Amino acid sequence: MRSLINILDLSVDEINELVATAEDIIENPAKYAEVCHGKKLATLFFEPSTRTRLSFEAAMIELGGSVIGFSEASSSSAAKGESVADTAKVISCYADIIAMRHPKEGAPYVASLNASVPVINAGDGGHNHPTQTLADLLTIKRETGRFDSLTVGLCGDLKFGRTVHSLIEAMSRYANVKFVLISPEELKLPSYVKRDVLKKNNIPYVQTTSLEDAMPELDILYMTRVQRERFFNEEDYLRLKDSYILDTKKLENAKDSLVVMHPLPRVNEISVSVDDDPRACYFKQVLYGKYMRMALIMKLLKEAGTI
Ligand code: CP
Repeated sequence: MRSLINILDLSVDEINELVATAEDIIENPAKYAEVCHGKKLATLFFEPSTRTRLSFEAAMIELGGSVIGFSEASSSSAAKGESVADTAKVISCYADIIAMRHPKEGAPYVASLNASVPVINAGDGGHNHPTQTLADLLTIKRETGRFDSLTVGLCGDLKFGRTVHSLIEAMSRYANVKFVLISPEELKLPSYVKRDVLKKNNIPYVQTTSLEDAMPELDILYMTRVQRERFFNEEDYLRLKDSYILDTKKLENAKDSLVVMHPLPRVNEISVSVDDDPRACYFKQVLYGKYMRMALIMKLLKEAGTI
């Protein structure tokens, strides 16, 4: 049974096909309105979410299917001690496909080993968030027209930022991509990502603490939130939370063609005044996420023989 746990579960050709399908959905939504008629998506969210859960649900509804699920662990039998493995077996009796978010790294993978329907990782702890990366890739494609020859700045919490880890994995497969890793010392990209992805594939990268210095060379600026929920110590969070605040002044030194992205939610890291800058693409990114999730649901259900 094909699931999506890590973005590298998809080949470059498959990602190109998903992007093409999403672009066709944007142009011809009526063509897809009944594709999943009679099919059910289960959204199993053990951690809070606005975009990922609701865009999955909107995606399935716009494909003509329906949705069941829960939005917090406390309203499921996990609160009584039920395991992820048992939950996956149980939900397979009710739904045709599962989207799962969990605070523990690897939980959606465990679910995929026990489910008899496809499982999509909707974010596991500080590890991966492959469907956010699909949204990010469609944004990059539509805004720049390409995936190669880009200098990508990643700014903020690169240690716990699962969206950053997945995006680096995805973009590392394209030619002439360079990363500028902008973070405080304490929130640098984990060494396993540097070793297993960047160094292994000879991808050029630099690490810096200065967003201002990096700005002029960037084609993409991917801002991230410092995530309170990943810190063991409130004092550390308070010290680091406002390390980077993108404002209109900082954008004065950026390229006119810069694409400013953020997986959202934002707290303080992008000033609201930036929202009116034509380079701000983070709300388009939200919308593109729904189309990519529609394309993904169809792909996995087709491969499972369900539609
Ligand atoms: N980008 C993202 O994962 O947002 P949510 O936490 O609201 O789903």
